[in-house]
Amino acid sequence: MFNLQVNKAKICILGLGYIGLPLFNELSKNFYTLGYDINKKRVLELQKGNDRNNQVKKNDLKNIKENILHTNTERLKSINTFIVTVPTPIFKNKKPNLKMLIESSKFLSKYLSKGNIVIIESTVFPGVVEEICVPIIEKYSKLRYKKDFFCGYSPERINPGDELNTIKKINKIISGTNKSCTKYMSDLYSSFLESKIHVADTIKIAEASKVIENAQRDVNIAFINEITMIFDRMKLDTNKILEAARTKWNFLDFKPGLVGGHCIGVDPYYLSYVSSKSGYNPKIINSGRLINNYMGSFICKKINKIINKKEIDIKKANILFLGLTFKENCPDIRNSKVFDIIKYYQKKAKLIHLFDPLLIKEDLDNKFSDLYIKFPKKNFYDLIIISVAHKYFKSLKIKNYLSLCKKKYIIFDVKNILPKKPNIFKL
Ligand SMILES: NC(=O)c1ccc[n+]([C@@H]2O[C@H](COP(=O)([O-])OP(=O)(O)OC[C@H]3O[C@@H](n4cnc5c(N)ncnc54)[C@H](O)[C@@H]3O)[C@@H](O)[C@H]2O)c1
Repeated sequence: MFNLQVNKAKICILGLGYIGLPLFNELSKNFYTLGYDINKKRVLELQKGNDRNNQVKKNDLKNIKENILHTNTERLKSINTFIVTVPTPIFKNKKPNLKMLIESSKFLSKYLSKGNIVIIESTVFPGVVEEICVPIIEKYSKLRYKKDFFCGYSPERINPGDELNTIKKINKIISGTNKSCTKYMSDLYSSFLESKIHVADTIKIAEASKVIENAQRDVNIAFINEITMIFDRMKLDTNKILEAARTKWNFLDFKPGLVGGHCIGVDPYYLSYVSSKSGYNPKIINSGRLINNYMGSFICKKINKIINKKEIDIKKANILFLGLTFKENCPDIRNSKVFDIIKYYQKKAKLIHLFDPLLIKEDLDNKFSDLYIKFPKKNFYDLIIISVAHKYFKSLKIKNYLSLCKKKYIIFDVKNILPKKPNIFKL
């Protein structure tokens, strides 16, 4: 029987990244909450009041810093609610890499007691919680699932960089081992949510719901990317076509572009993996991934054609990249597809400069850190590639961009943030 009441909740969040830290901050306002992260550097930064992800403010961090742990894990013995928010990336062969989830399951097993609940928030494929994590927890804790300990799954839908859809405002899906677990989860999350809670019938349904959300987005973007390639061959302006199509009430408004990061560019592989395991080789999902992964090459080819037409000698060209992160208004650089384009031109151009006001320079791979500049140079670039639509870039005037260019120049505006003008090209 699960009979934990929410007023007795003692929580630990495992993994204090983009997902874990804001959750830790919100739950701390109502419950005794600890935060644990395996990364010492991350913990030290947070204890000093600095969240490099810009998710939680210094003042809030001040209130919770005493409860951020790296060592001193004896404090976890008092915990009855473990919430796991560790990364779930893919291996090079695109198969799900559950190593961190497995490690955190082993770790929390040391502190798990009878009557406790383990809630997983990391994105997974259906079956991971009860068929992969639970057997590990049983093995390492010597406790029995559904008798001694219980589980829940609640996917996080946070969108870093989005000031409207914040953690409190996003509808939350929950599902627990049984009704009392689900009720407990509902009480826990409704302590800070201003949005709705949806109860999924089973943990597997909740797991599947998250992974299809991101796969659906990936496929939709892939469709727009594909039509962009078609219309490019036909010399038609895709942005103008989309502008017209968007006037229909049920046209889905997606934009062409690079799909990187660790959610939309990764989660479809989780779905594809579990699908293949169940005997069905997915077509649309896999094609979507292929198309979106090809976008960097497509952009390079398109730019090359323009360079040739404008008679710019690439071997003598200085190129500036504006925006390096995987998406706008977010410092996260992991799996950013801008680097597909950078790598291509690194071999071709005379000089490459990289600029991104949100980037933390030490996050840059050594291969690129020499190319990073604090400020772009005036009258210096033959080609500028605007690769990320940060608010900062949108706030600049056209004259600011032109002041960086040589007399003969091209601006390639991947994100369609500048007005249409001669020498400014778009996808
Ligand atoms: N970032 C997003 O936009 C987003 C949105 C929705 C869902 N998700 C999902 O949430 C999960 C977490 O993503 P994230 O972006 O917060 O990752 P992140 O890399 O920002 O943070 C994860 C943290 O977990 C820590 N960690 C790794 N192994 C650990 C362990 N064994 N014990 C304790 N801490 C450990 C890491 O040091 C890191 O600080 C992933 O499954 C991701 O797919 C992410």
